[in-house]
Amino acid sequence: MSRTIWNFSSAGRLVFGCGAVRELAAIADRLSTRRLLILTDSNLVDAGIAQRVAQPLKSAGVDVILFDEGEPEPSFECANRAIAAARECKPDAILGLGGGSNMDLAKITAAVFTHGGTYRDYFDFDNVPGPVVPLICVPTTAGTGSEVSHAAVLTDHENCTKVSTLSPYLRPTAAVVDPELTVSCPPKPTADSGIDALTHAVEAYLATYSTDLDVPAGTLFPYEGKFPLADALAERAVALIAEHLVTAVEQPQNIDARAGMSLAATLAGLAFSNAAVALVHAMEYPLGGALHCSHGEGNGLLLPHVLRFVLPERTSELARLAELLGVETGVLSIEDAAMNAITVVEEVSRAVGVRSRIRDLGGRDEQLSEFAAKAFTIKRLMALTPRPVAESDILKIYRAAF
Ligand SMILES: NC(=O)c1ccc[n+]([C@@H]2O[C@H](COP(=O)([O-])OP(=O)(O)OC[C@H]3O[C@@H](n4cnc5c(N)ncnc54)[C@H](O)[C@@H]3O)[C@@H](O)[C@H]2O)c1
Ligand SMILES: [Zn+2]
Repeated sequence: MSRTIWNFSSAGRLVFGCGAVRELAAIADRLSTRRLLILTDSNLVDAGIAQRVAQPLKSAGVDVILFDEGEPEPSFECANRAIAAARECKPDAILGLGGGSNMDLAKITAAVFTHGGTYRDYFDFDNVPGPVVPLICVPTTAGTGSEVSHAAVLTDHENCTKVSTLSPYLRPTAAVVDPELTVSCPPKPTADSGIDALTHAVEAYLATYSTDLDVPAGTLFPYEGKFPLADALAERAVALIAEHLVTAVEQPQNIDARAGMSLAATLAGLAFSNAAVALVHAMEYPLGGALHCSHGEGNGLLLPHVLRFVLPERTSELARLAELLGVETGVLSIEDAAMNAITVVEEVSRAVGVRSRIRDLGGRDEQLSEFAAKAFTIKRLMALTPRPVAESDILKIYRAAF
């Protein structure tokens, strides 16, 4: 049954701009925060960012507890340590400071600290039973959009895959996006997370139309499918990424490029967390879970191959993306313009150093069919892919990317 209504959600409050972290004390005060747990990692302590965020809060009288054991693509063990820290200090708000990894850790911790049990109780969609302790997210990469999204991802090392928890209650109470915090982000996470943002915008833009989504009206589903507001956000995000990503990687101190990428990542986060991510993300979960590449790099590697697969269903949208990516489309046919979009996506990934073959990540040919079987189980992301997908299609795409 098709839908005629779409919904749009965000963080409860979004503060954006250079110097935005200075608003944190006022935000904490507004939330009546007396004891705040900051979840971050040792790189952000070393970069002085944890201190920069914590000090003004302490000066405002907030009791700040710092947990600095966050890790990239956080494991269950890491989540257990963060949850234990929360249970010990009983904060009345939690702040996730870092890339998507630490922000997701903060979300999972907030859910388990508030509602008890373990993170396993909340996996998949809509299993968090109610509001969580106030959650503030402060990104230090320009990538995941977790600061506005309803998602949190952990790595299941035992089963070599990623596991998502999706819930309307995981949208942060406040997101504070300060591009200055991304200046110290090294080139590789800058590149990988930037390509993740590009993937979010592109997957949202090319997704199954909201009106075609095969979900009964009134049924809760984690994504709405493609709709006009998400399209507007995704278009702007793609144009900003085309303009700023390579510069942000090559000139880390370039604050214009950093600010452009921070805005792009947040816009792409708003787009995907309402409209969709789709087949690229489904295929990245087993790939990243087994090969331990970053989420962004896995997405960047797969994106052009998935775009070739969806091209017959989304030719005019891809042609529009070509324009946004800076291609002179005037004399080109729609088909040629669409092909050009894919070429530019490949060029941008290559320019920022994203590896382009699964074998370069250490993958083996014989792993591909297991990856395909696992990706195919993520049915919600198949439903959002604009072309019917069989497991054999997924295997073909992995083979092309091998
Ligand atoms: N919740 C969501 O909506 C969502 C969306 C996409 C991805 N994700 C998840 O986010 C994670 C990836 O996040 P990411 O790409 O932001 O990278 P990340 O959080 O894993 O960070 C990568 C590395 O960069 C370092 N780093 C980050 N910012 C820095 C800075 N300013 N200065 C110095 N070092 C810095 C970190 O310490 C870390 O070692 C994955 O687990 C992925 O699954 C979540
Ligand atoms: Zn992503």
